[in-house]
Amino acid sequence: MQNIDKYYLGIDLGTSSIKVSISDYKGKILLSESESYPLLMPNENWTEQNPDDWYNALINVLKRLNKEVDLSKVASLSFCGQMHGLVVLDENDKVIRPAILWNDSRTVKEVDYLNNVIGANKLIEYTSNIALCGFTAPKILWLRKNEPENFKKINKIMLPKDYLAYKISGVFASDVSDLSGTLFFDVKNNVYSIKMLEILGINPSQLPAIYNSYDVIGNVSDEFAKLSGLSNKTKVVIGGGDQAVGAIGTATISNDDLFISLGTSGVVFSSIDNYAYDKLGRIHSFRHANGKFLLMGCTLSCAGSLNWWFKDVLNIKNYDDEFENVDINNMNDILFLPYLMGERSPINDPNAKGMFANLNAIYKRADMTKAVVEGISYSLYDVFSIMKDLNLDFKEARVIGGGSRNKKWMQLLADIFGIKIKTISTSDGGALGAIILAMYGDKQYKYLKEACDELVHDKDIYMPNLKNHIIYQKKFEQYRQLYLKNKN
Ligand code: XUL
Repeated sequence: MQNIDKYYLGIDLGTSSIKVSISDYKGKILLSESESYPLLMPNENWTEQNPDDWYNALINVLKRLNKEVDLSKVASLSFCGQMHGLVVLDENDKVIRPAILWNDSRTVKEVDYLNNVIGANKLIEYTSNIALCGFTAPKILWLRKNEPENFKKINKIMLPKDYLAYKISGVFASDVSDLSGTLFFDVKNNVYSIKMLEILGINPSQLPAIYNSYDVIGNVSDEFAKLSGLSNKTKVVIGGGDQAVGAIGTATISNDDLFISLGTSGVVFSSIDNYAYDKLGRIHSFRHANGKFLLMGCTLSCAGSLNWWFKDVLNIKNYDDEFENVDINNMNDILFLPYLMGERSPINDPNAKGMFANLNAIYKRADMTKAVVEGISYSLYDVFSIMKDLNLDFKEARVIGGGSRNKKWMQLLADIFGIKIKTISTSDGGALGAIILAMYGDKQYKYLKEACDELVHDKDIYMPNLKNHIIYQKKFEQYRQLYLKNKN
């Protein structure tokens, strides 16, 4: 007889808040609670957070949830974590300094040293990826140079969600999907890269044990059980980086499955069964939370560009009203580069700039709005086209994030990508992904796919208009050329 009197918890450690969702024994989300914490910006381009703010927010949220649902019946819990952040502890397990986050770009010099002195080819050989400001390894080099006293004190190095897992279970562990974004993990061989550790001046004893994202690393400690209302029998499943776990929550787990996330930044993510990488490092080659591999690329100003255009420039609140005036079958020549904060994939250029081109007096506001949405979509297609260069074949993509509610944008994406676009009924892939990992870790399902098929439901489908696709192919080439011609 299956025990139906039990729950599962998904802990989504984001940059603005922590969100905890609780599901019934079948994975149906019953309740979610969240709490935000400050983002510290002590200098231009620096972003930091206090790991104890995450921890205290987690305890508060669990205490609130415990009033609604008996948390001692949680069978297992898992995590979906903001990636790349550097958390350092001393020999007494005290946090040495605030965590340096994924969107911090203080490490321009360190990235330059890694890519150009050590060499991008070597980095790809050691880790399958090149250095980016957001990744963890350049942060360690920065700390060694700029805060040598803190660097000397380091006893443990971990990623954001691993800090919570450590505080909850007492087990010093991480998972392959999150470690892939450190640039000191050898993605191909599934081990720490000794060469990278030498370059960074750290050793394996300072690093967490390596697990699959669905592995149970231990149980909730007695102390944390008392604090939170959970039981010391609750299993802790390590979980993974937010994109990989989001992919689980959108059923992006079979070979050549694709998902597009339209958040402040945008992500194009493909699940692949066999290891692959880009020789030029234009997109990331990581391990997936399903135990296989993934390729992904990130455009930095996705909803960010939309917010800039609608809120800052047009000064309007209701985006849908503005979209009303856009006819997506009405073509114009305007090009928009959405590089308002530089760009990550595939051009990896922190100095890239935003730009409108080909303006003419015949054009109206709606034409410019269409150009902005087109430009954002081309920046996503740019990542997709690298995947196609690697001979990956996609027939459809699932889209999540705020933008997926906009039907015109979804049709435009289908036309630009030339594939079927689907939206799903859950808005929150991350929390659902963490719950699925918790359930799979607790052996509720024999295969991850079984869980995804049961819990992820498609909503709307958009078929590509192939006549428009041909026009957008030409415009995409012009978009690429516009960047190359204006590059500093
Ligand atoms: C992934 C990435 C973001 C962060 C923050 O490479 O940078 O998804 O994890 O959410």
